[in-house]
Amino acid sequence: MGKTAVEKLAKLGARIMLLGRSKEKTMAVVKEINEMAQHTDGDAVHYVPCDLACQKSIRTAASIILEKCSRIDLLINCAGMNSGIRKVTEDGLEMSWAVNHLAPFLLSNLLLDRLKESSSSMASSARIVNLSSASEKYGHIHFEDIQLEKSGWSTIKSYSQAKLAMNMCTRKMAKELLSSGSTHNVFVNALNPGFINSNLLRDLSGWEMIVGVPSCYFSAPRQRWEPTGFCEWPYPTNIPMSLGNLCTKMPFAIPTRKLWMMNLLRKFGRYQSRKLD
Ligand SMILES: NC(=O)c1ccc[n+]([C@@H]2O[C@H](COP(=O)([O-])OP(=O)(O)OC[C@H]3O[C@@H](n4cnc5c(N)ncnc54)[C@H](OP(=O)(O)O)[C@@H]3O)[C@@H](O)[C@H]2O)c1
Repeated sequence: MGKTAVEKLAKLGARIMLLGRSKEKTMAVVKEINEMAQHTDGDAVHYVPCDLACQKSIRTAASIILEKCSRIDLLINCAGMNSGIRKVTEDGLEMSWAVNHLAPFLLSNLLLDRLKESSSSMASSARIVNLSSASEKYGHIHFEDIQLEKSGWSTIKSYSQAKLAMNMCTRKMAKELLSSGSTHNVFVNALNPGFINSNLLRDLSGWEMIVGVPSCYFSAPRQRWEPTGFCEWPYPTNIPMSLGNLCTKMPFAIPTRKLWMMNLLRKFGRYQSRKLD
């Protein structure tokens, strides 16, 4: 999905910093899109090395971006993963929690000041788009066992916890941005793309592989990005500009469990400040 978004943005004339952990793989995409977006003199997409499972790597990537980009109009936190077994990052974090939640949270915060500086008027609003998932609906935040060491780990449990946390942070950040919004126009939204035929389920094993079987019947990334409006550039055309929205591209709407979410948000806020202390 990331590649499709970059392709679309490059065609619209954007200059893009594409993060990737594999130089070879990401450079192939950079080359392909730069050749396609000829009007940009092959300068549309730039590769920034980043392993989202490593917080040092995220910090380095953010500093490269800040050095190269005097303004940032749009940050799409698209990368995500699923794993068939419990993995731990070199920072000692459960992999799904680290990549699907902490990484976009950290990157957004490291780039937030530049997004704010780049959006001093309504005519130049900036956006963060966090790729969410319908699985957040089944997620629980295991406050006393975030790393799922004691309560049992599973692919869906870790993924849905991380995506739920991402949605809560989206809302929390949106609320904070709204209350500090007199000098900037940064909008943050979560986007659930629906079912996409991608590589997301490639690392599943055992019975969970069965879940991946129907994915060949899912939509192609291009079909899903087109109508979202999130990738319009420089400004989105058709998304509600309310803050912290969970916009869904599912064929049916997912009811947002507002009260439940609000309680959870309060609890999550307390958890975060406890951890920060
Ligand atoms: N596909 C769906 O049906 C679906 C549904 C709901 C939500 N989503 C969300 O949509 C987003 C895009 O997923 P997708 O379907 O496009 O999946 P995908 O084809 O598997 O792409 C995921 C991308 O994330 C990158 N990535 C994974 N771990 C990384 C790491 N540690 N550091 C840097 N990059 C890393 C992968 O890079 P490599 O190529 O190096 O592995 C890959 O480019 C994800 O956030 C996913 O949770 C997808």
